[in-house]
Amino acid sequence: MDDVKNKMWAVGGGKGGVGKSLVTLLLGASLARLGRKVIMIDADLGGSNLHTFTGMRYPEYTLADFISRKVETIDQLVVDTPVNNLQLICGADDILGVANPKFTQKTRLFTHLKRLEADVILLDLGAGNSFTTIDFFLYAPNKIVVVTPQITSIQNAYGFIKSSLYRLLSQTFSKNTEAVELIKRASYSVQGETIDSIAKLYEAFKAFGEEYQEKLLTVVSGLNIKLLINMVRDNKEKNVSDIIRSVAKNYLGLDIEQFGIVQYDNVLNASINKMSGFLMDGKQCVANMNFYDIAYRINKDLARQAELLGAIAHEKEEPSPVGPSVAPLTPSGTSPAMTPSLGSAP
Ligand SMILES: Nc1ncnc2c1ncn2[C@@H]1O[C@H](COP(=O)(O)OP(=O)(O)O)[C@@H](O)[C@H]1O
Ligand SMILES: [Mg+2]
Repeated sequence: MDDVKNKMWAVGGGKGGVGKSLVTLLLGASLARLGRKVIMIDADLGGSNLHTFTGMRYPEYTLADFISRKVETIDQLVVDTPVNNLQLICGADDILGVANPKFTQKTRLFTHLKRLEADVILLDLGAGNSFTTIDFFLYAPNKIVVVTPQITSIQNAYGFIKSSLYRLLSQTFSKNTEAVELIKRASYSVQGETIDSIAKLYEAFKAFGEEYQEKLLTVVSGLNIKLLINMVRDNKEKNVSDIIRSVAKNYLGLDIEQFGIVQYDNVLNASINKMSGFLMDGKQCVANMNFYDIAYRINKDLARQAELLGAIAHEKEEPSPVGPSVAPLTPSGTSPAMTPSLGSAP
């Protein structure tokens, strides 16, 4: 895994209005309050509004300025929010063509995004299954799908997960047009289609050999998706995750993680239209408590990861006292002589 990319978190979910932006904002704010440096990116390139949630009316710079090369480096777009440690890059929905950046524009954007200095970078994605949205989602190693107990949200979240997996497969096997054709067939929900699941696709891939089948399994098992259920009003509604997880397992072979539950919060909802700054002041409301719990877990994981990376780096710098298990080669290609104190047992 690319360590620099590891800090990227995408927040998607297929449907509009399920709370993707709110999750980005309140999760970001909770992490920032735990001392993490967080940058939120409004990657909803058709309906950006994250800046409004932070209390900002008119963004001075947006991603469009970067895409159109008005600014050369992305850090010029970063603005502060009322929360310490929490910064934002505003989205762009007013400039024709930006909602569908070209491949080269996307590559340049991704390259610059991962260079941003932060502990956590949260990508707030737009609704729908456009390639741009899915590419953002696939790019981030940490993938959150936000869903509400509404049936339409469940359908859209599943559709989004499915589209992401099949796009990833199409990209992986792009050199083999026959394989891509099979992936396409599996991805369309056409009545009477015999290849309608990953298991069936796996069978069909037999024609290309075991290597293809193994690769298919590697891609599927490598797609780690975290499910966050938002606007939960009672315990029964928590079952939403079981529905999505079992369908995704049966048809897509995916093990989806139950990541968190955020309750419906009247106080929060009422405050949004007022633009009162309530969202940003971190007051204890139900939803904020839920987000704090999730942020606390992420924070702990980050600390564990840092410890691990630190230990690995330390090991590289200072080999253990008994010496490295494989003697390093000298530039000339021969092993260096062991020092007598380490080399001979008493
Ligand atoms: N946990 C919640 N409790 C109450 N209302 C919520 C909650 N999450 C989201 N909302 C409401 O849903 C609206 C849409 O949220 P938003 O984050 O803009 O969705 P999306 O980004 O997915 O389109 C918000 O303006 C807010 O009123
Ligand atoms: Mg949004």
